[in-house]
Amino acid sequence: MSEQVRKILVTSALPYANGPIHLGHLLEYIQTDIWVRFQKLRGEQCLYVCADDAHGTAIMLKAEENGVTPEQQIATVKADHERDFADFQIRFDNYYSTHSPENRAFSEMIFQRNKDAGYILEKEITQLYDPEKGMFLSDRFVRGTCPKCGATDQYGDNCEVCGATYSPSDLIDPYSAVSGATPVEKQTIQLFFDLPRFEPLLREWTRSGSLQEGVANKLQEWIEDLQPWDISREAPYFGFEIPGYPGKYFYVWLDAPIGYMASFKNLCDREGWDFDEYWKADSDAELYHFIGKDIINFHGLFWPAMLDGAGLRKPTAIFSHGFVTVNGAKMSKSRGTFIKARTYLDHLNPEYLRYYFAAKLNSRVDDFDLNLEDFAQRVNTDLVGKVVNIASRTGNFVAKFGGNLGPDLDNPLLVREAQEAAERIATFYEQREFSKAMREIMTLADHANVYIAEKAPWTLAKEEGRDKEVLAVCATALNVFRLLVLYLKPVLPELAARAEAFLNIAPLTWADHQQLLLEHDINKFSAMMARVDMAQIESMLNDSKDTHTRAEPKAQAATSDAAADDDSADTITLDDFLKVKLRVARVSRAAHVDGADKLLQLTLDVGEWGERNVFAGIKAKYRPEELEGRLVVLVANLAPRKMKFGLSEGMVLAAGPGGEDIFLLAPDSGAQPGMEVR
Ligand code: 2FM
Ligand code: ZN
Repeated sequence: MSEQVRKILVTSALPYANGPIHLGHLLEYIQTDIWVRFQKLRGEQCLYVCADDAHGTAIMLKAEENGVTPEQQIATVKADHERDFADFQIRFDNYYSTHSPENRAFSEMIFQRNKDAGYILEKEITQLYDPEKGMFLSDRFVRGTCPKCGATDQYGDNCEVCGATYSPSDLIDPYSAVSGATPVEKQTIQLFFDLPRFEPLLREWTRSGSLQEGVANKLQEWIEDLQPWDISREAPYFGFEIPGYPGKYFYVWLDAPIGYMASFKNLCDREGWDFDEYWKADSDAELYHFIGKDIINFHGLFWPAMLDGAGLRKPTAIFSHGFVTVNGAKMSKSRGTFIKARTYLDHLNPEYLRYYFAAKLNSRVDDFDLNLEDFAQRVNTDLVGKVVNIASRTGNFVAKFGGNLGPDLDNPLLVREAQEAAERIATFYEQREFSKAMREIMTLADHANVYIAEKAPWTLAKEEGRDKEVLAVCATALNVFRLLVLYLKPVLPELAARAEAFLNIAPLTWADHQQLLLEHDINKFSAMMARVDMAQIESMLNDSKDTHTRAEPKAQAATSDAAADDDSADTITLDDFLKVKLRVARVSRAAHVDGADKLLQLTLDVGEWGERNVFAGIKAKYRPEELEGRLVVLVANLAPRKMKFGLSEGMVLAAGPGGEDIFLLAPDSGAQPGMEVR
């Protein structure tokens, strides 16, 4: 261990306040938490801060969709996030929000310092504007037909079908994903951060050697082509208004990383840490950001440049990881593999996942596959079958012979081997090579199990006068067990707490590997961890299956569920299809719905099936008066759904990509309400 205590500040990326934590998020928080717990166990002064990323258009629209204010929206989501993190044993020193006074103050300060230094430019640009909603549209909120391949319903910045990138004004038949209206071009003055001026600094910083190889290469590529960065957004926007620019707001990605500082400041004010010691330009504290590979540009270019422009320190390193796949494929709602943190917790022990992540994580940016069978097998074999097994095969004999471990080890070499592994394991943790650390630990567990099998204390215990020998065998096994639990403690804090209670010892710290546990009373052994049962996994997948057949509007799914694959590729059988009762219906009344941008309320005459009230998302195309009297096709046996505006009793079929391009399927004029359609 280093002589001087290290001062380390660690962050994980701030989750958006518009959706729940899912397994894709958890890889990062668990990875960070393990690393932080390891540093703390070693006695370093390591602080871990995070926050909800509360600003931006997506969150503003989400609040609107939920019928609440943005403040209410972010408060509810933050409470949910905190509960999920706590239940996964992710122990932040502070969890805050970017919508905070500290964050406003730092955002203003960093902006002002950069402005004073001449790094902020004002430029007039042309942007797409939604005339119906009265707002400027960022690329993600403009959709239309790809100018390259003709695929419909593509985002304003790139085509998911052919991969082409373009600007929203190149789209054919563009429409606003917010209201469906056709956007118009409008001139605005925007503020830009003059990133190209930071080229020399960024070159030096990326070459400093502390970045992962792939990350450094990617950054080098980007540095070849730095552009000024647009840091302002027009009202309506949920965020901080820019001082001196009424009606303009800081772009969410400007104040998000500053949220790391704000959360830390909030912690300093509560616990008395010295903020400047960590953030001044010549700070000797270490600063690490754990992030996903999709946000490397923000952390590797804009963030260090902005900090430098404001006379503050830059990160020591950025630790980036890949995406999570489940059973080899993107997480999918229809397959039930888009698993929310809460759904997992309803079925499985969080430490199983912590261990599985640790057992397969390394320091590279590779994607991570959560193979559910492998997951169950690894946990059962390693944790239950190897580690806990050492205690369960020996603990009760100690109790039987008086509860004290006695003065002797039967096999001091075995214990010595486990003690000597400490430095190697520590190095692996430090380097984020968790899988190598876990392998070392499991090898030690294997040795202990072979030893126990050879000594067979259960046989010895039946023989007269061999009590001392039995105790020395058990003391050997339990000393190894104690060391394994210590080495696993960053990954499995809960298991460690149970083991500490069983061994009747104070909370273990890393330095304790030098000591032995002898002539010590221990408690009776009781079960520490149950096996994973595939049935639990099955029910978790069932609970994760999306039961809604209607796809969510993509603009809303885009940000919070970036890792999810909203696939509709899974097939249904003919029997499934025949369950759907399609009936002709006549629109007897159609009306606008107060407060709904996309919906019309339809009263339908379905003949013998009676009258139905249905909300249909066709407002962008049809006016109510042109619908009355018209025949439509209705899914007549869809379970009624309670919507914000009332009960919807069925679904009207329409075709098209959405917005104005939506067409009701009108059957032949001879059709009568109530008739079957096939
Ligand atoms: O990509 C995301 O989910 C962002 N909310 C991460 C922000 S990290 C930091 F910069 F705030
Ligand atoms: Zn295309």
